[in-house]
Amino acid sequence: MNIKDTYINFFENKDHKHIPSAGVIPENDPTSLFTTAGMQPLVPYLLGQPHPEGTKLVDVQKCFRTNDLEEIGDTTHHTFFEMLGNWSLGDYFKKESINWSFELLTKGFGIPVERLAVTVFEGEGNIPRDEESANIWKSLGIKEERISYLGKDDNFWIAGTSGPCGPDTEIFYWRSEDPIPQKHDPEDDRWVEIWNNVFMQYYMHEDGTITELSQKNVDTGMGVERITAVLEGKDDNYKTSIWIDVINKIEKLTGKSYNDENYTKAMRIIADHIRAIVMISGDDAKIKPSNTDQGYILRRLIRRTIRYAKKLDIDINTNWDKEIALMIIDKYKNYYNELERNKDTILEVLQTEKTKFNRTLEKGLREFEKITNNLKEDTINKNLAFKLYDTYGFPIELTEELAQEQNLKVDIEGFKQKFKEHQEKSRTASAGKFKGGLASDGIIETKYHTATHLLNAALKEVVNKDVHQMGSNITAERMRFDFSCDHKLTDEEKQQTEDLVNKWIEEGLEVTNEIMSKEEALNSGAECMFIEKYPDEVTVYSIGNISKELCGGPHVKNTKELGHFKIKKEEASSAGVRRIKAILE
Ligand code: SER
Repeated sequence: MNIKDTYINFFENKDHKHIPSAGVIPENDPTSLFTTAGMQPLVPYLLGQPHPEGTKLVDVQKCFRTNDLEEIGDTTHHTFFEMLGNWSLGDYFKKESINWSFELLTKGFGIPVERLAVTVFEGEGNIPRDEESANIWKSLGIKEERISYLGKDDNFWIAGTSGPCGPDTEIFYWRSEDPIPQKHDPEDDRWVEIWNNVFMQYYMHEDGTITELSQKNVDTGMGVERITAVLEGKDDNYKTSIWIDVINKIEKLTGKSYNDENYTKAMRIIADHIRAIVMISGDDAKIKPSNTDQGYILRRLIRRTIRYAKKLDIDINTNWDKEIALMIIDKYKNYYNELERNKDTILEVLQTEKTKFNRTLEKGLREFEKITNNLKEDTINKNLAFKLYDTYGFPIELTEELAQEQNLKVDIEGFKQKFKEHQEKSRTASAGKFKGGLASDGIIETKYHTATHLLNAALKEVVNKDVHQMGSNITAERMRFDFSCDHKLTDEEKQQTEDLVNKWIEEGLEVTNEIMSKEEALNSGAECMFIEKYPDEVTVYSIGNISKELCGGPHVKNTKELGHFKIKKEEASSAGVRRIKAILE
């Protein structure tokens, strides 16, 4: 059975529209590096903006989580993963959602009802106990003792600390040969969670207060890797149909066996990481390895893959990585066409980064050995760690991992300090932030954020007062701004826009903010992209008296902090939408 097809077809038959996955690099969301859950790209629609495809959607979303990079290598964790989801945007609610989940699991997937248990929200604060969901489950034949009522930590879902949220009901599967207990015990990990149905009807504000959303939504999430392992009866994800051909390929390339425990972990890491590398570099955001943000994660993934390939005695200069990548592109291109389109880019990224790292890796590993042999204490100091980074291209996490293998510590704080000093000294144009384990102050992004507001205001003045922001994306290197406009900007328009932004920067306009009700904000003429996206109480940022926008911030205090603004490119983005790429220098 193809699980993704079965899921999507099932919901298409229930009048859901199949929408393509959004990028694994979020569009228009400078606050997160990666898409980490299916709901993330749908937030504006959960908050009330009409979705062009309607109110019932189904998808499989590309997701990536970096928080447990070090855990990769066990049987269940992955960096990149896929999430199946069905969505009600103010359409159906608990009854249909639970009924359909039950129908798909028991009929579509053929899971016997005896192997299922569920949890529901027990109620807390103003939010009542979810008897409604419990009753629906009972009506479907789930026994009372297979329903556990749990609190906020388990059965209330929110991404981060604020945003759309709600109580959920989670579905568990008895994954063991042992006799199935009558009663569900949430502490017993032989019950594994396979599906989460979130009833998104609330909005959690930054200060912790909760208000009702304008519509009641359903957001469900089913991890493809987990459900596949469950349905195929495997206790190791890498033995499922998702991975087995990739693992076999690695076995063939190395002449080693996955079942030899000296090699199991390395093979899992290589398989997981190459899939993630394919997905990140194959995304239309076109991320390249770098020392900042997503590019840094991509670099770490590639370098880590190469190190583990060495453990398997792979000749790094052969096409081993390309062969695995091509296999993965082939497996996933049906759902993610961009992989086929961006195939050359993916292979080029792998090749270039490999060549770069391979040149110094051997020397770096020898240097590491020398360092550890001469070590008088149990810590690699900041200077040594920095040398490994600067001279041999070792991401600090790699040094840390190598050190851990020998029970050594690394002075990470000292390294960060040194890294910062080095950056300040070298003052590269893009002296960006260093995310992914290292502290980031985000000062550059903050500046770009303010520049976005200035550009928005300038375009209205120079081009047309009806210009509206359609999207934006900020990295440490540049800003990108999409706006509605029916023509290619003339050179004159571009120059005038740039000049106006620079004039405002030089004027040293103060950036201020105030909190007010959404209505007040709109009445005051403040700009905003998706009004539905905002809670009832909003922050309005003003820059002098030239710009006023609903915005979450952060911003600089005064425009003179921005330096010089320069438009690098103006191009079409989509019909009626133009895109400007600009930098601050
Ligand atoms: N948002 C929920 C999750 O990520 C369900 O999709 O688990």
